[in-house]
Amino acid sequence: MSDDPGPSALAVEIAGLCKSYGAIKAVDQLTMTVPSGGVHGFLGPNGSGKTTSIRMLLGLIPADSGTMRLFGEPVPQRLPQVIDQVGAIVEQPKFFDTFSARKNLALLAQAIGAPLSRVGEVLEQVGLAGRERGDFRTYSLGMKQRLAVAATLLKDPQLLIFDEPTNGLDPQGIHDFRATIRQLADGGKTVLVSSHILAEVQQVADTVTIIARGRTLAEGPVATLLAAGSDPVRVVVADPQRATGVLQAAGLGVQPAAGALLVTRSDGPLDPAVVARTLGEQGLWVSELGVQRRNLEQVYLELTGTVGGAA
Ligand SMILES: Nc1ncnc2c1ncn2[C@@H]1O[C@H](COP(=O)(O)OP(=O)(O)OP(=O)(O)O)[C@@H](O)[C@H]1O
Ligand SMILES: [Mg+2]
Repeated sequence: MSDDPGPSALAVEIAGLCKSYGAIKAVDQLTMTVPSGGVHGFLGPNGSGKTTSIRMLLGLIPADSGTMRLFGEPVPQRLPQVIDQVGAIVEQPKFFDTFSARKNLALLAQAIGAPLSRVGEVLEQVGLAGRERGDFRTYSLGMKQRLAVAATLLKDPQLLIFDEPTNGLDPQGIHDFRATIRQLADGGKTVLVSSHILAEVQQVADTVTIIARGRTLAEGPVATLLAAGSDPVRVVVADPQRATGVLQAAGLGVQPAAGALLVTRSDGPLDPAVVARTLGEQGLWVSELGVQRRNLEQVYLELTGTVGGAA
């Protein structure tokens, strides 16, 4: 093995990507960097441009401008050279209703030139082994989704791209899907997974790109994003209205949150003791106090300025 990671140290590189539909800027100067290996979350609310970006990356629709690379190769120019290394689920894949999972996969393997021996292997990988015989139309949504993932694995690609893969799945299905993509990543694959549910991806992603209105807001390791800024102090008091006034007068940021107040400092970490003392000095006694660990959703709200503290 060479020490030189070479151009393919990055599975995906996107810069300055733009796409408009009439007056709508679906994707607006998007940047995304996906390292090789691991799970990368592509996060943004509904309509923020995730599917449009993925479709451009896969050459399904043309970009207006910008550059995209897969494994260091510029796409769409060199897509034919790299596409065998990519498996993707972008929209509902078509399977034959009256064929079993095994037969559907066997047909697909033939069509794309994958060895038939892969069929059994991928059924095993997605946890469909032993359940692959009934007709496709009798499968639950979760089984259909496993089959879709199995189909992307037939060619044993390096990069898997799943667009909103957990839509419609129940909590067990979501949990199983997470375990599957974790396993793929642990086995050396790169998994790019889009979602509008930030908390869901936080549990499995190593790195993320957070977008809104077609633009990249933040990128990097999840741990780094969660560490930046400071975790709020969660406090419960009998008179939250007066407490809010007192804390704000002391220069702190205050957000109501389900029977409690979330208190932040704009210039750095906040010591819970400071909150207790500030309130105590005004005769306000604290019944609960603790630091609330932020999640990606809170980071997102801060980035978009929907929550107090952001500029
Ligand atoms: N073919 C199209 N014609 C017109 N507008 C489109 C088209 N495709 C996407 N858009 C618009 O572009 C924007 C981005 O849509 P896109 O589907 O990429 O968002 P998304 O992040 O995938 O959303 P979701 O989470 O709902 O899947 C939206 O405003 C959408 O209405
Ligand atoms: Mg979408």
